[in-house]
Amino acid sequence: MKVGRHREAIFLGCVDRLFRCQARSPTPHDKDTMSKKARWEERWAAGEIPWDAGGPCPSLVALVQAGSVAAGDILVPGNGGGWDSLALAAPSRRVFGLDLSQSAATVFRERAAAHEGVHAVCGDFFEANWQVGEVPSAFDFVWDYTFLCALPLELREPWADRMGELVKSGGTLATLIFPDIEAAADYVGPPWPLSPSDVRGLLKRDFEEISLERATESHPGREGKEWIGRFRRY
Ligand SMILES: C[S@@+](CC[C@H](N)C(=O)[O-])C[C@H]1O[C@@H](n2cnc3c(N)ncnc32)[C@H](O)[C@@H]1O
Repeated sequence: MKVGRHREAIFLGCVDRLFRCQARSPTPHDKDTMSKKARWEERWAAGEIPWDAGGPCPSLVALVQAGSVAAGDILVPGNGGGWDSLALAAPSRRVFGLDLSQSAATVFRERAAAHEGVHAVCGDFFEANWQVGEVPSAFDFVWDYTFLCALPLELREPWADRMGELVKSGGTLATLIFPDIEAAADYVGPPWPLSPSDVRGLLKRDFEEISLERATESHPGREGKEWIGRFRRY
């Protein structure tokens, strides 16, 4: 599958709050990562969010309907417009939709206003400074959809480490693995190709696999490229 460089512009985004939160001097690695983070806010502020499907991920809806989502505290990192957070709303749950972009958080806050127990949080997944006030330090259930695949490849191991911190012992990380594709040599992400074995490898230290299956329903255009995985924190 050949995807042009415009896809990079589509999936990379905006404002970098890390600049303001960073206590130590940034290393060259930090600066490169931060420049990528800075693009998310630009995209959100410009309304250029073609990844937004306008509704919840069908595989998540199926998990909710099957009773496979815990009660308690739920985190959706890379929340975007928050369709999935709204699908997770229930009287037995507190749902926290986390996004780096202030503009995304504002959109979601308005969308979630009528839903009790659903909260918009603006912050960087890789930092802990948003875990204040009513936001807990660990969660019963975490849902990742098009977040890991949007991150620079060098953040995959840090993503797994951070998930190990954020999911309570006995809690569940559910992740929609996308896009499982054979990329051409000149492919430029994001989304960066992601396979079930990539995610298995990343999570094997801290998580036990519950299930890992091909998605049976997908948003249009994503059919055949998605897997749904559930992993229990040791
Ligand atoms: C490809 S979009 C997916 C949004 C949403 N999950 C969806 O499917 O519509 C990725 C989202 O992750 C957010 N994001 C990127 N890096 C982040 C970080 N380090 N912490 C929190 N959110 C981040 C972006 O602002 C963007 O809204």
